[in-house]
Amino acid sequence: MRHFRWTTPAVALTCALALAACGGDDDNGSDGGDGGGGGEARVASVDPTTIEAAKGKVTICAPALTVEAARAAVKQAATEASGLDVDVITLPDAADEQNAQFVRRQRAQSGECDVFESDVVWTAQFAAQEWLLDLTDYIETRKDEFIPSTLETAQYEDRYYGVPEKTDAGLLYYRTDRVDTAPETWQQVYAQAEEVGGFVYQAKAYEGLTVNFLEVAYSAGGEVLSEDGSSSAFNSPENLKALELMVDGIKSGAVPRAVLTFQEGETQEAFDTGDPGFMRNWPYAYSIEKQSKTKGLKDNFDVAPLPAFEGGEPAGVLGGSNLVISRYSKNPEGALKLVDLLTKPDAMTLRAVDYSLAPVLTASYDDPEVKKALPFSDALKTAVENARSRPVSAAYTQISAAISSNVARALSGRATPQAAIEEADKAISAAVNTF
Ligand code: GLC
Repeated sequence: MRHFRWTTPAVALTCALALAACGGDDDNGSDGGDGGGGGEARVASVDPTTIEAAKGKVTICAPALTVEAARAAVKQAATEASGLDVDVITLPDAADEQNAQFVRRQRAQSGECDVFESDVVWTAQFAAQEWLLDLTDYIETRKDEFIPSTLETAQYEDRYYGVPEKTDAGLLYYRTDRVDTAPETWQQVYAQAEEVGGFVYQAKAYEGLTVNFLEVAYSAGGEVLSEDGSSSAFNSPENLKALELMVDGIKSGAVPRAVLTFQEGETQEAFDTGDPGFMRNWPYAYSIEKQSKTKGLKDNFDVAPLPAFEGGEPAGVLGGSNLVISRYSKNPEGALKLVDLLTKPDAMTLRAVDYSLAPVLTASYDDPEVKKALPFSDALKTAVENARSRPVSAAYTQISAAISSNVARALSGRATPQAAIEEADKAISAAVNTF
């Protein structure tokens, strides 16, 4: 078991240059390490006691959808007194493209982004490649502050590789001037959609579609992997029922075909036209729609937890992001200081109040400012409680691509639901077997 502790910038730099000595070899795409687990660090870590003295240049990379929130939080937290000089780089919105950019940067051993806003589903992939610094010692100093489910998303084999930044759960946005009460089943959403202007969601072939499909499928009783994670459980009558409902929604016109090109941003823009009666989106869209200039919109919508599949329990998919530090960072202490500042209660409040991004600190939910800014916090709490994580696997991106590409084929009419489910099942089996 190797132990590394970057206690001084000089040591950090040596480590950053002598990569193989700092925790394994990146080239083989496999786990590349010596096991991990057992509660001991297997890759470089940053000593939390170095935060106070840390200073200098740090770059944070964040997706376009939340980059303004990141910029505002940096401005508020990383003041001159912090001694940090922070740059913000914008990454693409699409989760898959962000992931690809991260992978490219790490393969090139680039230290350009010290800190990344990393989707909760990437921890296993990045940690298995030993691309992230181990932040367990830091987390131990603050463990009790975080909502437990958010901390779990930063964990891989008993160690923490990130610090939770925001949590996310899908919500059903609905027009209160057209719908009396929020539907309780997906079947009701589809049945009512046509009369109220349609239902929009994320159906482009990318991570967002995997999420949108799983929200329905989990509630119908579907699964992605077997319980021990060793094989695919995708080819099931439950997943088929969920996909059929979604395909029928497009065929009937309850859902406009345009959704086949929608990610989160396009979905929010579509809702903002004032036409759709329903939208599935994350909390971030709330503050945008509350400032909408479209006549009659901002005072005539509300959000509810996602409905259930008829006969099933409501379900959802846990989203969100963690702040992670690249092992190639040339200023790991400064990076940790920034991560610390951006995950403090003030930063949570700012993100919640100005950007309706859901805090990961338990105490934030008692903050009157947060309560006022998130009047839907009860719905959000239920949504987060109902939410399940996506499969935790180093092969997650392949598994997800198998789901999103095949669900998209069925939605666009290029495959029958049954054929799409079978094809996804084969691809998931192949992905699981590679790891
Ligand atoms: C949101 C969620 C993230 C999810 C992504 C899908 O950013 O926070 O977890 O993977 O959307 O598009």
